[in-house]
Amino acid sequence: MVVSAGGTREALDPVRFLGNRSSGKQGVALAETAAARGASVTLVAAHVEVPLPEQDGIEVVRVESALDLQAAMTVLADSADVVVMAAAVADFRPVDYVETKIKKSHRTAADGTEDDSAPTLQLVRNPDILAGLVRERGSRRRPLIVGFAAETGDTGHSVLELGREKVARKGCDLLVVNEVGRSVTFGQDDNTVTVLDRDGGEPVPLGPASKTVVSHGIWDVVAARGDRSWTG
Ligand code: C5P
Repeated sequence: MVVSAGGTREALDPVRFLGNRSSGKQGVALAETAAARGASVTLVAAHVEVPLPEQDGIEVVRVESALDLQAAMTVLADSADVVVMAAAVADFRPVDYVETKIKKSHRTAADGTEDDSAPTLQLVRNPDILAGLVRERGSRRRPLIVGFAAETGDTGHSVLELGREKVARKGCDLLVVNEVGRSVTFGQDDNTVTVLDRDGGEPVPLGPASKTVVSHGIWDVVAARGDRSWTG
């Protein structure tokens, strides 16, 4: 099992980055529960706010940016039975990394005068790692690929509708959908999710429960899906 967890950090200069609110708790709980169930796990950890597991059966690989994460996942997915992309990946990164700390003033304008204006951040899209893993798998049955979707809902669209659209667009086998807000889910110990299958069927609601209990529920759905995909 390969599980990514936490939030990527996209460096602007040696001291600053663009980040997100992911705590990594759900991804770490997935790694711990998979190992407790006897799996051999690689946890690819971006920035996480909980201690990294040290138990037998879990190898931890640290990454920082989305591009680091993509490089690690691409190699690891090749020999995995299941890949879970629980990491919160930055959709954009700064176009330029500035080698020295960006100053708030004393930048020099084109005409040689001192420029105290606010700098403009130019961003470029990061690759969609999950969609890339699905593409690279091609027609092979392994790995089974599980995505996550943190949705806030939308005007006129429920969180589940957005999830259904996402599982179709990304092509992953299962999508774990959860509703997030500023204070809901991120960093908390409990979670409430719904697991959607690309091939249809009833959505599986899990929680509200601890992220450990939710993880076991996710692995139950993955195990049943694996049975259908690999032996059917
Ligand atoms: O499209 P959205 O970011 O909501 O999709 C979330 C899912 O896609 C998560 O599984 C996340 O790990 C993955 N993702 C990715 N690469 C990105 C953005 C998201 O693999 N650049």
